Amino acid sequence: MKLGIIGYGNIAKAMVAGLDGKFNPIYVNDRKPQSKKAYRKKSLQDFKIDDIEKINLDFIFICVKPKDVKGVLHSLQQFKNKPYLISVVAGINLTSLENMYNSKKVIRIMPSTAAKYRKSVTGIFAKSKGREYKLAISVLREFGTVCELTSESQFHEFTSVLGSGQAFIFEILKNYRSKINKFSKNSKELNRNFYNFISSVADAYADGKDLEDLINEIRSPKGTTHAGIISLKRDKVKNKIDKAFKAAELRSKEIQNEYK
Ligand SMILES: NC(=O)c1ccc[n+]([C@@H]2O[C@H](COP(=O)([O-])OP(=O)(O)OC[C@H]3O[C@@H](n4cnc5c(N)ncnc54)[C@H](OP(=O)(O)O)[C@@H]3O)[C@@H](O)[C@H]2O)c1
Repeated sequence: MKLGIIGYGNIAKAMVAGLDGKFNPIYVNDRKPQSKKAYRKKSLQDFKIDDIEKINLDFIFICVKPKDVKGVLHSLQQFKNKPYLISVVAGINLTSLENMYNSKKVIRIMPSTAAKYRKSVTGIFAKSKGREYKLAISVLREFGTVCELTSESQFHEFTSVLGSGQAFIFEILKNYRSKINKFSKNSKELNRNFYNFISSVADAYADGKDLEDLINEIRSPKGTTHAGIISLKRDKVKNKIDKAFKAAELRSKEIQNEYK
């Protein structure tokens, strides 16, 4: 299978790292020339838009910012034998992409930069669920897990929870980090302590336990954890997090209207 990428920025680099040498070479088109050494290391090859038919790609990932999508897709309109387009772009819907690309061969996905650790939870939706859709899923599974969305509108909530959502956790973790700082001798020790603390959360979950069981393993009746959990519930922290999800979802809907 031959893969191409237009726009080699944060998300494209994360996906390439997660693909870890599969599908060599991956054809890349970016505005800025990349260093030859970095390209050799990752088995990437530059391509010119004019050569897209000659290369005969199966999929072209479009990884530019929403404002740049129209320009890129218009430059591809002229070609008869176009590859299937996989758009990672937030907020531009399939119908708009089809019109800009002048083809119905379009799939939308929402990966995350965790692709670089092969841990992206990637959402996918396409109007047609044929051979290319299934092939695209097999590519996405190389850098994590895949959620098949049942409607395109689910991208708004998906982006909010799994795209922006990791940043919400980081925001909350800042609080933990500054507390752990109090008990650490220096920044090196702080980093180690903080890393152990946050990675053990994932390790505990990897043991296959339910979240409630994990809480109960720490909590004892009338104990310190119990007091803290009651305080979180009293302050309706769950509602505040749901509110942040809703705010991000709403913004995703607004962006969609801006790029129609
Ligand atoms: N970052 C994430 O976590 C994430 C997650 C999911 C989805 N996405 C989506 O992915 C897209 C890219 O995000 P990003 O964070 O990777 O952006 P980015 O780091 O700015 O990367 C975009 C790259 O595309 C290049 N580019 C722009 N116009 C181009 C053109 N006409 N031809 C070739 N290359 C062009 C840019 O070059 P210049 O810098 O010179 O403009 C830049 O190198 C966005 O639409 C976003 O919605 C991002």
